Amino acid sequence: NTETDYELIGKNEVLSYYIPREKFSHKGTYGHSLIIGGSYGKIGAVHLAAKACLHTGSGLVTVYVPQCGYIPLQTNFPEAMVITDVDERHISNIDFDISPTVIGIGMGMGKDKKTVKAFIDFLNSNDTPLVVDADALNILSESKELLKKLPSQTVLTPHPKELERLIGKWDGDFEKLEMAKAFSKMYDCVLVIKGANTITVYDGKGYVNTTGNPGMATGGTGDVLTGMITGLVAQGYEPLRASIIGVYLHGRAGDIEVEKTGYQALTASSVIEGIGRAFLDLF
Ligand code: APR
Ligand code: MG
Repeated sequence: NTETDYELIGKNEVLSYYIPREKFSHKGTYGHSLIIGGSYGKIGAVHLAAKACLHTGSGLVTVYVPQCGYIPLQTNFPEAMVITDVDERHISNIDFDISPTVIGIGMGMGKDKKTVKAFIDFLNSNDTPLVVDADALNILSESKELLKKLPSQTVLTPHPKELERLIGKWDGDFEKLEMAKAFSKMYDCVLVIKGANTITVYDGKGYVNTTGNPGMATGGTGDVLTGMITGLVAQGYEPLRASIIGVYLHGRAGDIEVEKTGYQALTASSVIEGIGRAFLDLF
């Protein structure tokens, strides 16, 4: 573990990865993101993720939710297409007739027995690139066999508790990062270790983010991040770069918005409002 194992990510690193928009492009150029998640009382989590995905530039966004999510999403989020599960309150059978570029899954999904089975069946047949968060991570944590089913370079976005379930208990930050690197290698996944200083780990290296603030310690900001990374993969960024850029812009959006709101009033929705300025601020 030498210093060269870690890289600080600031504006210049993000700019060097940035893919400019083409004049002669159309929505198909920028990918179709499918956001899967939500359960009764937690439709907001997928709403936030899908909206963040759209604001990050995904050409199209479709949301897959239990039926109780249909009316709120169609009422409040006209840009999104909505596909509903057969079940009213929980995802019970992940089944859709579109071919998305990338799938972001897990936000507000819960761990109902039907949902766990649906997620396992989904992994057994899916080969679309994935960004996995929240309860989908918790389900994955329960089985090494399931982890092996993930497409290569799947992005996992755990907060500290979710990380501990995935990789086990650590003793100190050094051991945490070593365990994360080993895990990322074993399952060929990009690990986005969320916290005050989010570190993205892949291929034996750690990328340390330099944006974000304590106002972002509020419900739903993680869902926003997952949507943003999904939207970047949709636009053709490879999963590691999408993660690094997504984490940077998410923190930058929070930093821009906190100037207007202060720490206490910052919300996940205001972070979404800041995404546009975070992009503009790169140039
Ligand atoms: N400084 C900077 N960034 C921060 C800080 C901080 N002090 N605290 C949190 N953040 C950022 C994290 O880096 C991360 O991107 O806010 C986000 C929080 O993500 P989560 O912990 O996943 O929070 P949230 O989206 O609200 O989770 C909602 O989903 O993960 C499940 O069950 C879990 O109840 C939780 C729900
Ligand atoms: Mg979360």
